[in-house]
Amino acid sequence: MNHFLDVHKTDPEQLKHIIAEARRIKGDRVGKTRGAPDAEQPLAGRIVALIFEKPSTRTRVSFDVGVRQMGGETMVLSGADMQLGHGESIADTARVLSRYVDMIMIRTFEEQTLLEMAEHATIPVINGLTNRTHPCQIMADVMTFEEHRGPIAGKKVVWTGDGNNVCASLIHAAGQFGFDLTFSGPQTLDPEDEIIGWARKAGAKITVERDPQVAVKGADLVVADTWISMHDSQTTKERRHNQLRPYQVNSELMLNANSDALFMHCLPAHREEEVTSEVMDGPHSVIFDEAENRLHAQKAIMRWCLGV
Ligand code: CP
Ligand code: NVA
Repeated sequence: MNHFLDVHKTDPEQLKHIIAEARRIKGDRVGKTRGAPDAEQPLAGRIVALIFEKPSTRTRVSFDVGVRQMGGETMVLSGADMQLGHGESIADTARVLSRYVDMIMIRTFEEQTLLEMAEHATIPVINGLTNRTHPCQIMADVMTFEEHRGPIAGKKVVWTGDGNNVCASLIHAAGQFGFDLTFSGPQTLDPEDEIIGWARKAGAKITVERDPQVAVKGADLVVADTWISMHDSQTTKERRHNQLRPYQVNSELMLNANSDALFMHCLPAHREEEVTSEVMDGPHSVIFDEAENRLHAQKAIMRWCLGV
């Protein structure tokens, strides 16, 4: 049994195995309707609890569909409706759920909640996003890049904007998959030193470049995300928008990247804020492949967690 808690907590060879499996699983579904079962049914007889303490479209639907296609059943739970949201401890919740279901996916606020869940559960726990990281997203992103452009090792990836949870997992991935990562955003929204330090120690070249036009030179992939994450206070909205406006990904910025550079965004996007519609719907963009690949990547993650 394995937990999938973070990109940097999983052995790089295992991560590569998961991506290869995800591509094989995707290939096996060609020509099938969405509701058709996979040829293999590794989750037959298993139930997966999907816990959401924050909103979600992609994570919720892709996990639910993925489990069903693999022959399992899901239970989608809102944290607020559980006793968890009314004072029951995370440890007790983990112990109880471990008696009912076979695996837990949780989207939560504090990373500590995820870690406590994993510590006390006797079944696999998967990180569906915390304030600090979003590893399932980045597995889908690596898969998407490699599908379009081949191995990501040695490529230049540029993150623009807020050094947030998705950015943190991308930095972890730079360390695990061996690509160069340039962060371009205001100093006040830099990624955590600890995360950059970890990736550098793992051998990745991590650069901070305040000027986005300079940052994207030679980029094979440009990545953006919302300027205000679900855990951020809306009171900071105006200040953040003012700080982040220079980092908008638009056609002019993409002209400075490699001509075959890809553009990714985990979605949901705020069109004309962090990215223009021209880029989102333009030739560099692979955002909907990225969203689709959440399904395939997470199926491979769930199988790896359960060893099936
Ligand atoms: N990218 C992502 O995790 O989307 P949702 O918030 O819709 O799940
Ligand atoms: N950084 C965003 C990602 C959403 C999928 C957030 O945490 O709200």
